[in-house]
Amino acid sequence: MDTAHTSHPPAGPTRSAGPAGPNDYDSFAEAYSADTEHNLLNAHYARPAILALAGDVAGRRVLDAGCGAGPLSAALRDRGALVTGIDASAGMLALARRRLGDDAALHQADLSDPLPFADDTFDDVVASLVLHYLEDWGPTLAELRRVLRPGGRLIASVEHPFVAYAIQQPRPDYYATTSYSFDWVFNGRSFPMTFWRRPLHAMIDAFTAAGFHPPALSEPRPDPAARALFPDDFDDLATKVSFLFFVAEVPRPAAGTDG
Ligand SMILES: C[S@@+](CC[C@H](N)C(=O)[O-])C[C@H]1O[C@@H](n2cnc3c(N)ncnc32)[C@H](O)[C@@H]1O
Repeated sequence: MDTAHTSHPPAGPTRSAGPAGPNDYDSFAEAYSADTEHNLLNAHYARPAILALAGDVAGRRVLDAGCGAGPLSAALRDRGALVTGIDASAGMLALARRRLGDDAALHQADLSDPLPFADDTFDDVVASLVLHYLEDWGPTLAELRRVLRPGGRLIASVEHPFVAYAIQQPRPDYYATTSYSFDWVFNGRSFPMTFWRRPLHAMIDAFTAAGFHPPALSEPRPDPAARALFPDDFDDLATKVSFLFFVAEVPRPAAGTDG
C-alpha cells in the first residue's frame, strides 16, 4: 500500500513535532485521559455521538473496543449496559480499571489479533476513534462481526476521510490507503502518532466484506449545550467536519433457515 506522511495535524489534542515510537498510549495515558475527559471534541462531540447512536443499551452486552481510559464504558454502564472493555495499552487499561473498579471486565487485546471471546458474545460493539490506527480493517471487522450476535450492531467512529485527506500538501492519492504522521503535545512533550486513512467507499466496503449490512453513516454536530461551555470554539467545531460515525448491523438469518 502507498504510504504518505504529513506534519499537518488532524483534529485532536494540541499537536506539534518530535521523536519516539508512534501511538505509544502507555507513555501519555494520564495526559490523554485528562485532556479528553471534559474537552469539547471528545466529551461533547465524539462520545455523545456514539451514545446517541447506541440509544437504549439497558441490559445489552456491549464490547467497548479500544476503550482507553473507559469514559465511554462508564457512560454505557450508567445506562444499564453490561460492558466489557478491551485495549492494547496497559496504561490506558489501568486508568479504565481505576475508573470502573475491580469488578469491571477489562482485557488487554490488540484489535489486529483474534479476540478472546466466543462467537455471538455481544449485542453491540462500540469502537470509538480506534479503527484509524489500523492499516487493514478486514481481520478486525471480521472478528467484531464474529463476536456479535445476529442483529447486533457495530457503532464506530473514525477520523473523517475528507479531513484526513485534506490535511496534507501536496495532497495524497485519495483513493489509496495511506498513513499519515503527526505529533500530539501534552504538557510540552511531543508524542508521535500515525493514523491510517482510506477513501469512504473502502470503509463501507470493509464493513460489507466482513459480513455486515452496509453501514449507516452519521455526521453529527457537537452537543448544542456545549456552546455555553466553549463559546470561543463551539462554532468552529460545529461547522467543520471532524469525525465520521458508522452503525453496521450483523444480518439476521433469513426466516426458516437454521443458525
Ligand atoms: C483515541 S483513543 C480512544 C479511546 C476511547 N475509545 C475513547 O473514545 O475515549 C484510542 C484508543 O485505542 C487504543 N488502540 C489503538 N490501537 C489499538 C489496537 N490495535 N488494538 C486495541 N486498542 C488500540 C489506544 O490504546 C487508545 O486507548
